Amino acid sequence: MKSSAIAHSNIALIKYWGRSRDHDPNLNIPSNDSISMTKLGLSDDIHLQTRTTIDFSDIYEEDTAILEGEVLTERRLERILRVVNPLRKIANIGYKFKMMSENDFPTQAGLASSASGFAALAIAAADALGIDFSKEEISTIARLGSGSAARSIHGGFVYWNKGNSHETSFARQICGSDEFDMSVVIAIIHEGKKDVTSDVGHESAYTSPFDRVRISKSQEQAKDIEKAILDDDFSEVGKISEENCKYMHAVMMTSNPPLFYWHPNTLKLIKSIQRIRKESLECYFTIDAGPNVHCLCRHKDIYELEKKLEEMECVDKTIIARPADDSYVTREHLF
Ligand code: DP6
Repeated sequence: MKSSAIAHSNIALIKYWGRSRDHDPNLNIPSNDSISMTKLGLSDDIHLQTRTTIDFSDIYEEDTAILEGEVLTERRLERILRVVNPLRKIANIGYKFKMMSENDFPTQAGLASSASGFAALAIAAADALGIDFSKEEISTIARLGSGSAARSIHGGFVYWNKGNSHETSFARQICGSDEFDMSVVIAIIHEGKKDVTSDVGHESAYTSPFDRVRISKSQEQAKDIEKAILDDDFSEVGKISEENCKYMHAVMMTSNPPLFYWHPNTLKLIKSIQRIRKESLECYFTIDAGPNVHCLCRHKDIYELEKKLEEMECVDKTIIARPADDSYVTREHLF
């Protein structure tokens, strides 16, 4: 009972930050709807994807999960089990598993490795166990590992409806990878593990006095940005994305304990992006829970924008990406 899947990471345009306090925190039900673009890295070696293989068999005496060669224990293994256990229950199969997962991009650098990781895991595990789920149902299972993974099930542009129960909190596709012209240049200014994971941040978001405002604004912005995507209005998508990113970072900085994910060079990049927008080409920034900056542009501008960002001393490297297609099952196993 072995299967493998490939899923891509995503960048949120409307951010998920904070779990609903009306539900069990383990369900990862968010306090607001969110929207993202699933990313396909355009260089030869970085497609921004995770490949995961999982095998269920009576030959295994315990559940083993190996990420990038490292055997996962405690909390990290627990998160894997949160995805696999409900599927084992649905399939009524008690076998233990061996899982291996590999990313082709830096993990834990604010590039959302857990989104692609848990999406690939949910797809591979459901397939290995013979469960015939819709993409929306798989999305609810991926969400149990990491909220943003709910969105990485789909390609293109994706809307995660916060819902009000496990069954109703899932992501759906707004439009496919070729239906809205937007690409990103990711400017990496600092690679390395972040001090405070999103998982911890989701628990403290509510302590910020601005949290309520961010939640209600995000609900409006999610509707507005969905319309702008369908209307092919890149300027509107970019403007709303920047606004929403600033709201999330304002909440992070004003939570208790406060979270400062920005590096001094993050601000330098924000200023440069504003300058580039004014002087030459239309682009907008968005930043997740880390110091690196995603710069949104129309695809025709991507190489020129990449060049401009690469010329900046504070930028270590850049990764360019366009919308990816849906995640999928593959027969190319890791073991
Ligand atoms: C800031 O809990 O889904 O990226 O850290 O990858 O497990 P991981 O993320 P998750 O939180 C994502 C937070 C965010 C915003 C977003 O993707 O919506």
